[in-house]
Amino acid sequence: MKLKDKVFIVTGASSGIGKELAGQLSLSGVKIVCASRNLSELQKVSHSINSNGGSSISVQTDITILEECERLITKTIEEFGQLDGLVLNAGISMWAKFENIKDLTFFSTIMNTNYHGSVNCCYAALPFLKKTKGKIISCSTAQAIIGFPYHSGYAASKHALHGFLKTLAMECTNEITILEAVLGWVRGTNLRGNSFKSDGEKHKETKRKHSNQSVDVTFCVEGIIKGIKKDKKTIYIPKKLGIIPFLNTFFKNFLEKKIIREINKNKE
Ligand SMILES: NC(=O)c1ccc[n+]([C@@H]2O[C@H](COP(=O)([O-])OP(=O)(O)OC[C@H]3O[C@@H](n4cnc5c(N)ncnc54)[C@H](OP(=O)(O)O)[C@@H]3O)[C@@H](O)[C@H]2O)c1
Repeated sequence: MKLKDKVFIVTGASSGIGKELAGQLSLSGVKIVCASRNLSELQKVSHSINSNGGSSISVQTDITILEECERLITKTIEEFGQLDGLVLNAGISMWAKFENIKDLTFFSTIMNTNYHGSVNCCYAALPFLKKTKGKIISCSTAQAIIGFPYHSGYAASKHALHGFLKTLAMECTNEITILEAVLGWVRGTNLRGNSFKSDGEKHKETKRKHSNQSVDVTFCVEGIIKGIKKDKKTIYIPKKLGIIPFLNTFFKNFLEKKIIREINKNKE
């Protein structure tokens, strides 16, 4: 896809990967609609894009509410007249062993955000994406294709979204394209601080450091943009994650033991 003068919505643009993606896409000539709940943070992102010569608006949106997603699309079309890209980036995580969880309410919050929220955005955007033969980009994770200790609700929500997008891609062949970016641990975002712990509260300040396997948010977003330009269906960042589907098919026990060892170094 050529990016110049395209119009993209980025959900979760107030922070982390979404914020960086909004900025870098705009440098490639994309008009950006920044969406999330925190309007003042969104406005800072839009302001920074516009001051650097780009074009951006902010639309306060809680993606768990379908009417707000429909309003997001209406505002995008009113402002820019078309929609070429929908980045499903808004998301929330957890770090808690299932048997230690005191209150399961946050499982619904995770599923409502990562799965239903993304489906709401796709539902509202699809007619407009079909008009431009546009693209949906999902900020996914290896946890969408394998299990991951301490992340049961998060992995489930990302598995659900993966299944939904695979199906949508088949239903809309030749009408839209879908890119799933399978990301490893990314440094420089608020995902860990905003993740739920076993008592249902957020981790806020977390002492857990990212492992040396993690990648920087700028590098991660450069990789996503390369994938968009090359019209890839799946990309892995870092690239070595691309071995996971192979290991999951032919060396499942090895893979599961490796994941458990890695996660036990970082217990809650
Ligand atoms: N960081 C990683 O290591 C990593 C790895 C693999 C995949 N990912 C995926 O990448 C995506 C972005 O993560 P991140 O690391 O950048 O996290 P982050 O810094 O915590 O950003 C999450 C974004 O989601 C938005 N959001 C949360 N709930 C929302 C809702 N109901 N409606 C609208 N927006 C909502 C937040 O904005 P508001 O609070 O303003 O609403 C925020 O902008 C997530 O989907 C995550 O699963 C991240």
